[in-house]
Amino acid sequence: MDFSLSEEHLMIRDAARDFARTELLPGVIERDNLQKFPTEQVKKMGELGFLGMMVDPKYGGGGMDTVSYVLVMEELSKIDASCSVIVSVNNSLVCYGLQAYGTEAQKEKYLTKLATGESIGAFCLSEPEAGSDATSQRTTAIDKGDHYVLNGTKNWITNGGSADYYLVIAQTDRDKKHKGINAFIVEKGWDGFEIGPKEDKLGIRGSDTHSLIFNDVKVPKENRIGEDGFGFTFAMKTLSGGRIGIAAQALGIASGAYELARDYSKVRKAFDTEICNHQAIAFKLADMHTSITAARHMVMKAAWDKDQGHNYDMSGAMAKLYASKTAMDVTVEAVQVHGGNGYVKEYHVERLMRDAKITQIYEGTSEIQKIVISRGLLKD
Ligand code: CAA
Repeated sequence: MDFSLSEEHLMIRDAARDFARTELLPGVIERDNLQKFPTEQVKKMGELGFLGMMVDPKYGGGGMDTVSYVLVMEELSKIDASCSVIVSVNNSLVCYGLQAYGTEAQKEKYLTKLATGESIGAFCLSEPEAGSDATSQRTTAIDKGDHYVLNGTKNWITNGGSADYYLVIAQTDRDKKHKGINAFIVEKGWDGFEIGPKEDKLGIRGSDTHSLIFNDVKVPKENRIGEDGFGFTFAMKTLSGGRIGIAAQALGIASGAYELARDYSKVRKAFDTEICNHQAIAFKLADMHTSITAARHMVMKAAWDKDQGHNYDMSGAMAKLYASKTAMDVTVEAVQVHGGNGYVKEYHVERLMRDAKITQIYEGTSEIQKIVISRGLLKD
């Protein structure tokens, strides 16, 4: 068994690390304060190939593996989780979904732009009454022959205001339950498609989260993804990979907070010595580093499973469950190590603590991950 990263992986990780320090760190506090979408930073991430990392180069992507992707996600998330969620949704949910299940025409028209960052995508599953209970879709897509008519509301949609293309999940035939659900590509600006107000969030405040309203939106039939009734399976399969990206985001938030706490503890003095010399602090660092290392192994294992063509439903859910708990625990401790300074924005750890919480909620709450894991364990 070889735990070392290849030269190529190290190069990609270092490129992401440099980018995060030079391009994401300046202004991260201001973007968080003002809930300012990182337009310039997203443009640069597109130029660097971070927005379509695993897409086939023939559609403009980087043709990289999932291990490379999680390395980049961790590095970006150490500094700015608002930027990394944009990367995660575009790569794992939108680009992956289209590459794996889209038609050639859909790939030509949409994936080529999404993979290069010329356009941004959003994934629209959650509804006021269908977040965890994803089969209970209320948004309808009525089949009218050569097109569908979409009606309903989606909630908490990442990239909701900034996206150009939206993958929308909707119910076509309620009697068929999850087998009557479809997924569609919807373009911003289509008649009847309205973007609701921006949510005022606890964390990842630089990313834009909106509700979306569909009022008799006509969607051409060629914009349905997969066969009739494939929408729920599409969402589940896509989210399984998405969870690996969010697990890597949680890992990055945790490791970013840990590094800040470690460095601070080496310079801050109390009782005549640097605080890292007190066991009260040193033991905290030991605990933080231990759980981060365990989380990293789990994230890497899930990414490796995906790259090997193994099933990754369980390993992705376990990685997300554990890494997101680690992100919460470690960021709280990082604030504690910083004492009063930890409560002040300029030291970054309070933002990381606020950002950590969403990793236990989106792309399936921690409770949903336990459903996925326990069903996987008990299915045979
Ligand atoms: N792959 C393929 N098929 C799957 C699957 C998977 N991973 N998971 C379930 N299915 C299939 C099942 O096999 C079943 O099909 P059959 O009846 O043909 O056998 C069907 O889907 C229904 O499955 P269940 O009976 O298990 O469905 P359920 O209603 O009990 O719930 C669930 C399953 C796992 C809880 C699911 O509803 C779920 O994942 N919920 C959470 C949704 C979620 O993650 N939301 C986040 C929104 S997106 C987001 O946050 C993005 C963002 O902005 C950052």
